[in-house]
Amino acid sequence: MSKPPRLAVIGHPVSHSASPRMHQPALDDAGVDASYIAIDVEPGKVKEAFSKMQEEGYIGCNVTVPHKLEAMEICDELTDDAKALGATNTIVFREDGTILGHNTDGAGLSQAILEDFGKSLSELRILILGAGGGAGRAIATQCCREGAPAVYLSNRTIEKLEPIAIDLVDNHGGKLVTTLSTDTESLIEAASRVDLIINATSLGLKPSDPLPLPEEALLSRHMVYDAIYNPPVTPLLKAASEVGAKTSNGLSMLLHQGAFAFEAWFGIKPNLELMHKALLQK
Ligand code: ATR
Repeated sequence: MSKPPRLAVIGHPVSHSASPRMHQPALDDAGVDASYIAIDVEPGKVKEAFSKMQEEGYIGCNVTVPHKLEAMEICDELTDDAKALGATNTIVFREDGTILGHNTDGAGLSQAILEDFGKSLSELRILILGAGGGAGRAIATQCCREGAPAVYLSNRTIEKLEPIAIDLVDNHGGKLVTTLSTDTESLIEAASRVDLIINATSLGLKPSDPLPLPEEALLSRHMVYDAIYNPPVTPLLKAASEVGAKTSNGLSMLLHQGAFAFEAWFGIKPNLELMHKALLQK
């Protein structure tokens, strides 16, 4: 007999989401009688979707683009992580009818960097490419919250960075926060001062995309993390490997944010190995 749908990811579009594929084996392994599905929800309809899920006895859901802000506004309560990141990616429908919003993206990034590179964000000088976008800003916020000693923010549209830098310093413990444009000289200079480079731009989704920073900026001592996981090897990661840098892609962030979401729903850790295996199978 098929299991009742009691968890979901909502997004628009959502059919590409890897979350159902990743969570189902972990639910089965934990003996939870639930299936995890993808639900396409149009912008402006998140409240309606939550009410329907609550009526149907859902445990919770994940929230992906473009609903992370809309969902946050509907929650009755937010975790400190969700408050700090200003968005929610994980929802718990409580038995008393209230809705709790988590954000596991930041913790997911932190765990990914720890496992992939053996380093904590608190000990790394970090350059974030695309820090003016939604994903980049969340990454920058997490880096500052964890006490990274220096954070360099770069964005094609540099005007977006000033208010972000001020917020990082005033509200998220940002220490040395520097903003820079995407010109060759600035990027080479900033890269020479950091340990970790994170790509949060959309450059690399297409094989014909240019690198998000000049190739000369990449050094063998760098750790280079690309938030993109499809394709698994972006032009940036290829170029970074070629100079001998350590590299990793966004699959680990996806995995760990999912594992923290599972913990938010059930209070236990999921079988990470099964989730990882499921993500690698397409
Ligand atoms: P969001 O993450 O907010 O949904 P996005 O359109 O996916 O936004 O873009 C993410 C990041 O990639 C942004 O920082 C964007 O830079 P702008 O703020 O200048 O738009 C960056 N980006 C997208 N295309 C780019 C390109 N061709 N060159 C450099 N940066 C680019």
